[in-house]
Amino acid sequence: MSLFQLNEAYVDVAAALHATSFEHPWDKKEFLSLLSLPTTKGWIDDSSLLLVSHVLDEIEILTILVHPNFRGQGKAFSLLTHLIQYAKQNNVRQIFLEVNIQNTPAISLYEKIGFQKTGIRKNYYKMKDERGQFVFKDALLYTFLTHI
Ligand SMILES: CC(C)(COP(=O)(O)OP(=O)(O)OC[C@H]1O[C@@H](n2cnc3c(N)ncnc32)[C@H](O)[C@@H]1OP(=O)(O)O)[C@@H](O)C(=O)NCCC(=O)NCCS
Repeated sequence: MSLFQLNEAYVDVAAALHATSFEHPWDKKEFLSLLSLPTTKGWIDDSSLLLVSHVLDEIEILTILVHPNFRGQGKAFSLLTHLIQYAKQNNVRQIFLEVNIQNTPAISLYEKIGFQKTGIRKNYYKMKDERGQFVFKDALLYTFLTHI
């Protein structure tokens, strides 16, 4: 399956994919709600998903994932390359996102493609540790400038 623009027809696939990769996955309703906004854009294939919010000359990455069985094959890099191309074609000046400070694969991915660390949000994520206790983790802010 090649990359499709995410629309209502794919929300089941999107929710199933999201559940493979996040502790608190978004369900079908949440995808429908996001897609009802004119600012939401997304791309999907059978093993990866990218959802963004595009407002004027800025894009925020809402979620990006690759199914665990298909990681390490350059799929996320391709998704982001596609997004940067879309951004340049649509006069977007910057793409930004938040990432858990402990998410090494994602941080390496963003740095490899040229995102710069631009800030930190202390105690941004509330998560459970291995003993089931709630803990708070910082988020790093990353920004990619398209230089258009
Ligand atoms: C982060 C994620 C999207 C990467 O997807 P992927 O398709 O495996 O990534 P790619 O194969 O395109 O890798 C591109 C680069 O990302 C980095 N990377 C990917 N997986 C990595 C890992 N396990 N450890 C360290 N760096 C990693 C590397 O820099 C890699 O480049 P390299 O292959 O030259 O070393 C994937 O691990 C995932 O879905 N994780 C769960 C969801 C998630 O955390 N999303 C991000 C939320 S902010």
